[in-house]
Amino acid sequence: MKDEKLKLLLGGEEIAGRVAELAELISAEYEGRKVLLICVLKGAVIFASDLMRRLKIPVEIDFIAVSSYGSDTASSGVVRILKDLDRSIKGKDVLIVEDIVDTGLTLNYLRKNLLSRQPRSLRVVTLLDKPARRRVEFTPDYCGFEIPDYFVVGYGLDFNEDYRHLAGIYVLNPEC
Ligand code: PRP
Repeated sequence: MKDEKLKLLLGGEEIAGRVAELAELISAEYEGRKVLLICVLKGAVIFASDLMRRLKIPVEIDFIAVSSYGSDTASSGVVRILKDLDRSIKGKDVLIVEDIVDTGLTLNYLRKNLLSRQPRSLRVVTLLDKPARRRVEFTPDYCGFEIPDYFVVGYGLDFNEDYRHLAGIYVLNPEC
């Protein structure tokens, strides 16, 4: 941790403003319904907790943990579920909450897996999207910010488990 440099990309206030906008949009589109947020551990924890407090519709939350960026998973696209949901999603309006879409492999897998459980609807909200890194076609339904191919930390995102607690999002070891 000692030699790593951080450069601010998105400040806490800017993130909070965008989260509020996303919450408005989602609240309007799901009006009259209850939404089940599925928070993908661990990175999405901060985003999910901020987002859910801004929603103006009834909301439930559940958590799922998957392995990604493992030794073989990135090339094969096979993602392993480390912790599954506690309850059935059948017939529910489900919104997957992610911190970042990178190659798209994780969400591509998760979307297919969760669709097989017969939710009423299934959408994805991500705070960050790095379309330049995509390896499979994937478009989130809601996106906070599109960013270039930077390695980012903070607001839930980590490097070797560090930096998740930072209020802003930072580029790790920027070249300039
Ligand atoms: C990150 C992120 C997504 C996934 C996106 O999780 O939270 O789940 O990678 O990458 P992809 O689009 O290339 O599949 P990570 O494996 O870093 O775990 P973490 O959330 O526990 O930090």
